[in-house]
Order: sequence, then structure tokens, then C-alpha cells
Amino acid sequence: MPLDAPTARPGLSPKGPPRADQALASDARFWDRLSTKYAASAVSDPQAWSRTIERTRERLLPADCVLELGCGTGSTALRLAGGVSDYLATDLSEDMIAIARAKLEAAPPGPLSFQVATAESIAPVPGGYDVVLGFNYLHLVRELSVTLSHIRALLRPGGLLITKTPCIGEMNILLRGVALPVMQILGKAPYVGTFREAQLTDAMRLAGFEILEREIHVARGTDHRPWLVARRV
Ligand SMILES: C[S@@+](CC[C@H](N)C(=O)[O-])C[C@H]1O[C@@H](n2cnc3c(N)ncnc32)[C@H](O)[C@@H]1O
Repeated sequence: MPLDAPTARPGLSPKGPPRADQALASDARFWDRLSTKYAASAVSDPQAWSRTIERTRERLLPADCVLELGCGTGSTALRLAGGVSDYLATDLSEDMIAIARAKLEAAPPGPLSFQVATAESIAPVPGGYDVVLGFNYLHLVRELSVTLSHIRALLRPGGLLITKTPCIGEMNILLRGVALPVMQILGKAPYVGTFREAQLTDAMRLAGFEILEREIHVARGTDHRPWLVARRV
């Protein structure tokens, strides 16, 4: 799709300023290109992922209406959706969602559906979502505080945001300050926000969330990726 026609993507808002739309279209193209490889690649830390799934599942109730943002190829959604009444999993990338839908066809019927959307473009549901999930996603949004405000507006009062996000600002300076920018110039790494954990949690509080739980699930390596449960206040 040409850069000057980003709003033609289905499911994405046509309302943003042109530069923001161009950035979104460029991000979508990056993730579209990566989708097949992403679907085929093994989870880098399976033990950590299982722990995240398990701890998140404990927070979900059978009557919950759940929204997942940045769901990728739907692996987490397929694991969690069986325990709730409605689960809408969304992603910016049409190609990620196409792969997720193909997986869904092979799965038993349930409350799960997939949609191309962002936090900014998604339509609210009456009463609000009970839970919004975002795994390996918040570091990829261009304007963290804006996205967090949209997420808050999508939740019912008291609803939960459960997220696990790499805090790039905690990474080794050589990786963050040299390797990452080079990879971005070469088109091998996406746009990423470079916040530290404290900046993330401050932004969440400022957007109207109270942090209820914080855990580190990493079993391998030095990755700084806190699992956070926050309540809309
Ligand atoms: C690293 S993958 C994570 C996928 C999945 N949540 C997981 O943990 O395996 C990041 C995903 O976020 C999506 N994404 C990036 N920016 C986004 C945005 N602004 N809104 C919605 N999705 C976005 C990408 O298309 C990609 O599928």
C-alpha cells in the first residue's frame, strides 16, 4: 500500500493526523512482512510464556468480555479464550490476523474472534470490556499515553489491563543505543518506545490506572519484561 493511502487499511481509524497515519501504516507493513516468520518461530522463553498464560488465566472470570491488543498470530488468545464469555483479539497487521484466523478455523468453536484494529480504532462495547490484554505490545505504540487513555476508555470502571512489555530503556546501552537503531535503519527492527519500567508504570498511573500486581516471569536471559495487572480507577 502506498504511504499516502494508509487509511485504506480495514479496521484502522481514518481520523489520525497524516504523519501518525503514515507511521501506523509503516508499522503495519513491518509486521505484515514479519508475520510468516513470526508464526513459524519458536517462543524464545517457553517457561516464561507458560507462566504468563497461567497467571493471566487466574485473573479471568467466565463471564468476562476480553479484548486483546497486538495479538499477533493469536497464540495467546487461543490459549485463554476458552475461559471467558467473549474474547476479541486484535492486531494492527492484516497478515498476522490472517494467520490467526487460519489457526482459529482448526480450533474448536468458542468465544474467540480476530479483527484488524488498534486501541485507537476499536469500537467500544456497551458497559466496557472487563479485561484488556496486551503482550509484547505497549513498547510498539507510538504514543504510549494516548494509547493508554484509549485502553482506559475501552474498559469498564474497575476493569483490568494486563500487560507484559519489554522495557527497552532497561536494556544494555550498546544494544539499545547502537544495535537497535542500526537494525531499525536496515528495516530489521520495528519502531519501539524506549521507556524504563518506572516510566511505563508512571504513564499507566497518569492515564488512570492503579497497579495491582507486578511479576517477572523471565526464566532465561536478562530480559526486563514485567507482567503487570492494573485496574481502571
Ligand atoms: C512482538 S508481536 C507480539 C504478538 C503477541 N502479542 C505475542 O506476545 O506473541 C507485536 C504485535 O503487535 C502488533 N502491533 C504493533 N504495533 C501495534 C499497534 N499500534 N496497535 C496494534 N497492534 C500493534 C504487531 O503487528 C505484532 O503482531
